[in-house]
Amino acid sequence: MKIMNNIVLIGFMGVGKGAVARELSKLSGRFAIDGDDMIESLFNKKISKIFEDEGEEAFRDAEKNLAKFLEHNVKGAIISTGGGFYRQRNLKKIGTIIYLKSSFAKIMERLQSAPNSAKKLAKRPLLKDLEKAKKLHKERNSAYARKADIIIIAEDKSPKKIAKEILKALKGQK
Ligand code: S3P
Repeated sequence: MKIMNNIVLIGFMGVGKGAVARELSKLSGRFAIDGDDMIESLFNKKISKIFEDEGEEAFRDAEKNLAKFLEHNVKGAIISTGGGFYRQRNLKKIGTIIYLKSSFAKIMERLQSAPNSAKKLAKRPLLKDLEKAKKLHKERNSAYARKADIIIIAEDKSPKKIAKEILKALKGQK
């Protein structure tokens, strides 16, 4: 891995990209930034409100602009992304892509057992309909894998353990 390459975390909603990014930041000394947070500040609204007021398409357009911004302006960071960000055409130009993989059942288990579970579920408009979300997970699984430089099984592991595995895998890539 080139030292200034960004580390980009992709994967399904609720898999723990943000928590892993923070552990990676702590372990590596790199700053972590979150794509969804950047889009929320752009609209000055929470994601659920952006979907409600402006529609999903406006959110997806913002993701595209964010991808361009990251490619041209951010180096050496840990970047956690929203679950649909993997579709960006320039994804590979942003950094080394890490797919955090987990079954749908384990993701739901993780979200439902979190202390702030209701909040975690409510902030994700695409998790409102669980049958639809399950289908989306199935559809996206192979797409995430195709985009990934490294696939990490995230199931039943703490964010710290996952972060350590990522750093080890990145070392092996050098
Ligand atoms: C989305 C995932 C969300 C957020 C938006 C759309 C998706 O991010 O970007 O609700 O299409 O999977 P998380 O993966 O952080 O939940």
